[in-house]
Amino acid sequence: MSAPSIGEPPIRTAVVGLGWAARSIWLPRLRHNPAFTVTAAVDPDERGRAAVAEAEGMDRLPVLAAVHDLDPAEVDLAVVAVPNHLHCAVAAELLAKGIPVFLEKPVCLTSEEAERLAEAERSGGAMLLAGSAARYRADVRGLYRIAARLGHIRHVELAWVRSRGVPDRGGWFTQRSLAGGGALVDLGWHLFDIAVPLLGTAAFRHAIGTVSSDFIVQRSSRAAWRGDDGDGPALLGANGGATDVEDTARGFLITDDGRSVVLHASWASHEELDTTRVTIDGSAGSATLRCTFGFSPNRLEKSTLTRTVDGTTRPVAVPTEPVGTEYDRQLDMLPAQLRDPAGRGRVIDEVRRTIGAIERVYASARIPRKVRESASV
Ligand SMILES: NC(=O)c1ccc[n+]([C@@H]2O[C@H](COP(=O)([O-])OP(=O)(O)OC[C@H]3O[C@@H](n4cnc5c(N)ncnc54)[C@H](O)[C@@H]3O)[C@@H](O)[C@H]2O)c1
Repeated sequence: MSAPSIGEPPIRTAVVGLGWAARSIWLPRLRHNPAFTVTAAVDPDERGRAAVAEAEGMDRLPVLAAVHDLDPAEVDLAVVAVPNHLHCAVAAELLAKGIPVFLEKPVCLTSEEAERLAEAERSGGAMLLAGSAARYRADVRGLYRIAARLGHIRHVELAWVRSRGVPDRGGWFTQRSLAGGGALVDLGWHLFDIAVPLLGTAAFRHAIGTVSSDFIVQRSSRAAWRGDDGDGPALLGANGGATDVEDTARGFLITDDGRSVVLHASWASHEELDTTRVTIDGSAGSATLRCTFGFSPNRLEKSTLTRTVDGTTRPVAVPTEPVGTEYDRQLDMLPAQLRDPAGRGRVIDEVRRTIGAIERVYASARIPRKVRESASV
């Protein structure tokens, strides 16, 4: 855990959006990390504000209803964990005011939103940072070290397949207009994120894919660890809890420099355990990491990393660390990232490629209604 650098006061942090991610991931970690001090919390929903006010003590922490009320002179960083469709609007407002933003994934839902964020970062002179912690896992770092010894990387397979784990079914996560998509936007974003150090800056020349929703309707498919009541009337959205996003997405992508990527993101499946699997094929060998990303308790007991060369597969030691350590590690990196002016624009450069690929996978996966109806007979 990072202490503030000598002479640096703790980063005055506003937490914006007080739902599951803020209360389970960010607020506890910010509270325990001496490099940060939480100075404000924001949520238009009375229930979120009340829960945080009770946990933190109203007198100690101002709890506000809108980011409009945050004073840039009193906030060094906003940690934003609002529903996906509000990411761009909320972050752009903060950035334009000059408040640096650490924005949960998916950073944005369209290429147009990426450009709006880029403009807000430029005009406000504040930095945009992105919350996607998987790159900070010890096992993923171990994989990157092995990847550096595999010669030219030719092909990467990225899969995060849950046994069951549809977040907040019937709420905003499962409505396209509010979430931007299903498993591809939610889990796939993390997979794209960990591919960045493997693929460098090459653009995707081709991106196609398929989507399906065979599990989302099953009550047992929900992510029980979130504590969502699941389909209770209080949780049903304005559309009566209907879902119109995919629980499974598969993509095939080719970079400008001729490398291929297979991507598979599933909120629910036929599998027994929630499993993340990354395979890298290089000119001098291949490597595979098997582990479980995220907070699901239905996980592999430990991460395994192997390297295969000339027909021989050998295990590579990876440390076992407590669930969620990558989020602590990402927080530890934030102060230095905030101080580094070269970081401005970096997130948007990566995000443009990710959201562009997601848009193209969805565009190729959308089947005209007539074809879909005849296929389901
Ligand atoms: N990095 C991760 O591993 C991870 C895990 C879970 C969620 N997330 C991301 O965090 C974000 C939030 O997810 P969640 O599960 O906490 O959702 P949630 O629905 O539990 O919480 C969202 C909160 O935002 C509040 N909100 C709505 N509009 C707002 C506004 N204009 N200003 C401030 N607050 C507003 C809502 O009232 C709600 O309390 C999502 O984008 C999700 O993708 C990331």
